[in-house]
Amino acid sequence: MEKFAFLIHPIEVDDIYRKYKYLKYLSDNTVEKLASLLPPSKVSNICNLKSDYNEGEGWFIGIPLTTKEIMCSKEEKVIAKIIEAGKKAEKLGAKILGLGAHTSVIGDAGITIAENLNIAVTTGNSYTVAAAFEATKEACRLLGTDISENDIAVIGANGSIGKVCAELACRSSKKVILIGRDRNKLEALKKLLEKKYEGVNIYCSTSIAGGISNAGVVFTVTSSLDQIIEPQYIKTGAVVCDVARPRDVSKKVQSLRKDVLVIEGGVIEVPKGVEFNFNFGFPEGLAYACMAETMILALEGRYENFSIGRDIDIEKIDEINRLAEKHGFKLAGLRSFERVIDKNYIESVKNYIKMKKIVMENVERV
Ligand SMILES: NC(=O)c1ccc[n+]([C@@H]2O[C@H](COP(=O)([O-])OP(=O)(O)OC[C@H]3O[C@@H](n4cnc5c(N)ncnc54)[C@H](OP(=O)(O)O)[C@@H]3O)[C@@H](O)[C@H]2O)c1
Repeated sequence: MEKFAFLIHPIEVDDIYRKYKYLKYLSDNTVEKLASLLPPSKVSNICNLKSDYNEGEGWFIGIPLTTKEIMCSKEEKVIAKIIEAGKKAEKLGAKILGLGAHTSVIGDAGITIAENLNIAVTTGNSYTVAAAFEATKEACRLLGTDISENDIAVIGANGSIGKVCAELACRSSKKVILIGRDRNKLEALKKLLEKKYEGVNIYCSTSIAGGISNAGVVFTVTSSLDQIIEPQYIKTGAVVCDVARPRDVSKKVQSLRKDVLVIEGGVIEVPKGVEFNFNFGFPEGLAYACMAETMILALEGRYENFSIGRDIDIEKIDEINRLAEKHGFKLAGLRSFERVIDKNYIESVKNYIKMKKIVMENVERV
């Protein structure tokens, strides 16, 4: 029996209130600070993981830090807490630890954590990127276009997920826009990609609004604590894949831009029967791609630091896709703002796109 553990944390303070309703009487700050004093603990047992080739079991380990606490506290303190959680996983018998949400973003994206543990570590970023790309291709197909016909923008292109997303974008389209805050890093990435992908036009931008205004496909993968994509930035008919947690796309887009398709990146259907014994907000049988990567590596007995650091090899994306298929993991149906995207949803987006185009043509004529 293969063994794994996956690290989780409350994304927002509301996630703490959901479990401990009585804390609502205290201020958000007090609750976050109080929670951060608690040690990491086992949250649940993940059982019945079976593929055609192997079986596994695992544990969710929780660290009581919200995204804000992880990003704004002293880095050494947060990393020490993650290592403490990793030791807990070791004691339970796990042989690989997956870093969930912002536990994979902090510091050097898993390298120091791996150096301080006796078990393998992965961020899950390879399968996250693979799944986001597959989901986006499918969303384009449903809207009657092909990803290759679109300009692709990547927001957060300097990051661990962003860099490899940008490379996949260069494999798929003739025009790619790299968006981030650090222009020098963007320019360096552009140079690297231009060498590898001749004939692709690559642009850099530090403006989100300007960078995505003509993009038919947008991958957004930043570590921002705030929502950074406003309704007016997005092109009519665009597919926006929001991989970030917390989300990058403003909630307002859902009500104000019915002519665009925003999808959640990286939702995976796991082999039938898996019991997570903890509600992380998905219906039964679905998991985040980063969780799935940890489970796949365990089933394959690949106890190695698979995706760590900020330079993920593109070959890893193809490899994890192959292993996922072997062990019965696949892309789940598309979801948008926690809702399943069905045929009617797609038809409605297509109608709004048609309507918006007619309005725009009329405006141009006047
Ligand atoms: N859905 C899933 O299954 C899943 C799995 C893993 C991770 N994630 C999420 O994916 C996101 C990215 O993770 P990562 O490991 O790639 O993080 P990362 O390596 O730290 O990269 C994040 C990038 O975001 C950029 N950024 C931050 N704030 C920004 C802002 N306000 N505007 C524009 N760019 C901004 C930074 O750009 P500069 O370098 O230019 O400053 C940085 O390069 C996180 O939200 C994480 O929680 C999701």
